[in-house]
Amino acid sequence: MGSLKIVNFIIHGYHVVVLGVVSSNRIFSILYNTVFFIPFSREQQAVLRGKYHYYINNRKLLRNNVTLRRNIHRLEKGLLMRPARSVFALNYIKETVNTFQRSYESYSLNQFNIDIDELKWANDVLFTYFTTVQSHPKINKAKSQYEALNTNNDNILQTSKNNGKIPFTHQNRQRSNLTYDDLLTLSYQRRSVRWFKQEPVSRDLIDKALMVARQSPSACNRQPFEYKIYDDPELVKKIAKIPFGAAGYATNIPVIVVLIGKLYYYFSARDRHVIYIDASLSAMSFMYALETLGLSSSVINWPDFEYVEFKMQQTLNLKIDERPIMLMALGYPDETGKIAFSQKKSLDSIRSYNQIQLK
Ligand SMILES: Cc1cc2nc3c(=O)[nH]c(=O)nc-3n(C[C@H](O)[C@H](O)[C@H](O)COP(=O)(O)O)c2cc1C
Repeated sequence: MGSLKIVNFIIHGYHVVVLGVVSSNRIFSILYNTVFFIPFSREQQAVLRGKYHYYINNRKLLRNNVTLRRNIHRLEKGLLMRPARSVFALNYIKETVNTFQRSYESYSLNQFNIDIDELKWANDVLFTYFTTVQSHPKINKAKSQYEALNTNNDNILQTSKNNGKIPFTHQNRQRSNLTYDDLLTLSYQRRSVRWFKQEPVSRDLIDKALMVARQSPSACNRQPFEYKIYDDPELVKKIAKIPFGAAGYATNIPVIVVLIGKLYYYFSARDRHVIYIDASLSAMSFMYALETLGLSSSVINWPDFEYVEFKMQQTLNLKIDERPIMLMALGYPDETGKIAFSQKKSLDSIRSYNQIQLK
């Protein structure tokens, strides 16, 4: 055995033995990560900071209100239950009306940049809730508080009543003529494109793609993410060289997106993964939409490296609980640029039915 082989053998053996031990129980894992994987502490701090800001933000008047979004979502689900429920939401209807009142009053005073569609949706669902449920002391109290706001007489909120933002039947949903074959072809068309024409990208097209991205499912409809889009060449250059994954083509990127997850949408660490799920679901829709608009894209990885995390945080002035999830390069594709074949896995590799893992 050559000396390099012996060294590799020892390193491999060390990893297997050490990882075998530290991964055998949680206490060992915590101790190991505390010493050997510092970035974990950044994530833990971010989760705690997010929780802290969740409570702080609840008292602030922001464009979107997370408690309002979550509770209105819960009311919607209550309204569509089978069999219909005559009394529900007793433990959160007061909080919902309180939150709605704060947003509504600030909107009425015209002092804050409230998301008006969110407010209309909340109003329509609350109105439907109070006209659907039966009498109960808690409901009656919240109803009086809601009715005192007199949103019926508000021109903007009232307009949505006829075409309300309330639960509707499946047969009344919007429909598309897109066929499975169209979608399959689009999935073949979309590839990670790393070579772009050196042209500015129309912001209208990006907005159109975002209209699709925002339709993606998200836990409790919170949508805890932001597409931070950079099309200023100087900024693009600066940001594209932060991650390692764009090495070799960073200088060719016309627009770079930093998709940020906001941990301050959660009051519990149990939801710490949701930012990654929600943002990624929306990113996929975004990339498909870009393709239909003549634009192409490539995801750029965001691994947890302390230095690049710090650099990004400094460059974009991110709060500790705003986590970069991925970056995306986008632009008009250079038709002569090459694309990796990237063989996909067989269906047998990615699916199973009714299978329970053998111990
Ligand atoms: C989470 C994620 C991270 C990625 N990171 C990078 C990256 O850092 N650099 C890069 O050039 N491509 C990156 N890609 C693109 C993948 O290499 C590409 O999606 C994969 O090879 C399959 O090719 P396709 O997208 O053309 O189907 C990433 C993709 C994903 C989903």
